[in-house]
Amino acid sequence: MAIRIISRKCTQAVCFMFLMVLLFCVCEGQDSSSLSPMDEKEKQVIYNVIQGFVGKWWNGSDLYPDPCGWTPIQGVSCELYDDGFWYVTVVNLGQVFDNSLICSNDAKFPEQLFKLKHLKVLSLTSCFLSPNKNPVTLPISGWEKFSESLESLILRSNPGLVGTIPSTIGSLRSLQSLVLLENSLTGELPRSIGNLVKLRQLVLAGNNLVGEVPITYGRFSELLIFDASRNNLSGSLPPIVGSWSSLLKLDLSNNVLEGLLPMELGRLKHLTLLDVSHNKLIGGLAETIKELVSLKDMVLSNNPIGGDLLGTKWRSFTKVETLDLSNMGLEGSVPESITEMKRLRFLDLSNNNLNGSLSRNLENLPCLKALHVNGNNLTGRLEFSQEFYGKLGRRFAAWNNNENLCYVAKQVTPVPYSVKPCLQEITNSEGVSTVENFEMSEGSYDEDSFVETSFGISSFVFNDVWLILSVNVVLTVLLWNLSF
Ligand SMILES: *[C@@H]1O[C@H](CO)[C@@H](O)[C@H](O)[C@H]1NC(C)=O
Ligand SMILES: *[C@@H]1O[C@H](CO)[C@@H](O)[C@H](O)[C@H]1NC(C)=O
Ligand SMILES: *[C@@H]1O[C@H](CO)[C@@H](O)[C@H](O)[C@H]1NC(C)=O
Ligand SMILES: *[C@@H]1O[C@H](CO)[C@@H](O)[C@H](O)[C@H]1NC(C)=O
Repeated sequence: MAIRIISRKCTQAVCFMFLMVLLFCVCEGQDSSSLSPMDEKEKQVIYNVIQGFVGKWWNGSDLYPDPCGWTPIQGVSCELYDDGFWYVTVVNLGQVFDNSLICSNDAKFPEQLFKLKHLKVLSLTSCFLSPNKNPVTLPISGWEKFSESLESLILRSNPGLVGTIPSTIGSLRSLQSLVLLENSLTGELPRSIGNLVKLRQLVLAGNNLVGEVPITYGRFSELLIFDASRNNLSGSLPPIVGSWSSLLKLDLSNNVLEGLLPMELGRLKHLTLLDVSHNKLIGGLAETIKELVSLKDMVLSNNPIGGDLLGTKWRSFTKVETLDLSNMGLEGSVPESITEMKRLRFLDLSNNNLNGSLSRNLENLPCLKALHVNGNNLTGRLEFSQEFYGKLGRRFAAWNNNENLCYVAKQVTPVPYSVKPCLQEITNSEGVSTVENFEMSEGSYDEDSFVETSFGISSFVFNDVWLILSVNVVLTVLLWNLSF
């Protein structure tokens, strides 16, 4: 182990000294291979395996005579085992780093792969690229040879990886990370994956998987991340999620899940991200969601959930930063207790049937960066300060409400985008600029191109177009002034 670390990380000076010691050893009559001896078979296997992925041109024995020692292969790591030999423990190929070995157009899973008897990590990124020219399926047999060793299987961004997930994956009993992200896998989730009770991370997002989450998955007591978003999973959000008591992130967005949010969800006391957006969930906001006391991101948008916001104790969500409840068929008014969610940064209630007025106390949320209430039936006067409108710009979205929403205009600008000034303000202020402002901002507006949020494991990003716009304007004004 120590030798490996030195040989990897050493500076040239250290390497030089190291070589001197090596030469000295050789002079003393020892074989140079004693530096990091490998089983000759293991050495041939790793050459073959890499060739299988990278292509026949790659001549390992030429370039890397000592793969676990002074000629390390990019993406390959080794460890010293009790029998005194070095074995390959990590194979990480594909477009990861600048100097990574890239897979060839006809890359396959080499048969010899399963002979790497101490392999702990297999990671292939953008390795199988063409589902038409080189469709590759996951091997069916062989995985059982990895049952004692393999801890991480990571296959990411492989559009050419097609077919089903073989049930033999369930023999990888040491697996802690199973990441099959953004491939072209089809079929149902194998029940046998439920045998992988050491799993801490199960990511199946961005494939074409169908069917229900098997009940056997209730055995994952150590699971931290479950992400099966962007598939075609159906059925209900299974009650077994309640048995994933350590879970931090649950992302099942962009599937076709139906039914209610299960009561058992409330058991996930450590959950920080819940994203079930873009499904077909119904039945209103479950009482139990208030027990998700660690939540930072709650994204339930784009479900016909219905009901109202009044039955939920919003003030108990002391850690929530993102609350996305857009397009859920919500009715009734916006409760005052939402204004007590002190960590809120992003609040989206857009495209519901909410009515009543908006509390001016929303302005007192110290972290609020975006507030979307457009596409509702809100009424009354918006009494936020000019600072609030100025700070949020178009990230305060209140357009497409019905006629009865207006803002109280104390000054001319800034004003909320595409909201009318309240009637008496028009008559009070000699009118012209306010009315003009309103008319100017009436034009059509593509909301989607403006606020681009991407949720999920990677958290979310605000699109600061407005900020950039204002900076541009300031710069232009500055330059203009300078040129005179
Ligand atoms: C790799 O190089 C070795 C030594 O130069 C040579 O004997 C062998 O034929 C080469 N293999 C391939 C596949 O080119
Ligand atoms: C999802 O399932 C529906 C109906 O079962 C089907 O029409 C659709 O093509 C599927 N989509 C994908 C991406 O598999
Ligand atoms: C708001 O909507 C609810 C249900 O749709 C209705 O009962 C209530 O009267 C409405 N309130 C106002 C102020 O329009
Ligand atoms: C909005 O509310 C008004 C009065 O409260 C009501 O007359 C109208 O039908 C509502 N519009 C929608 C689209 O719900």
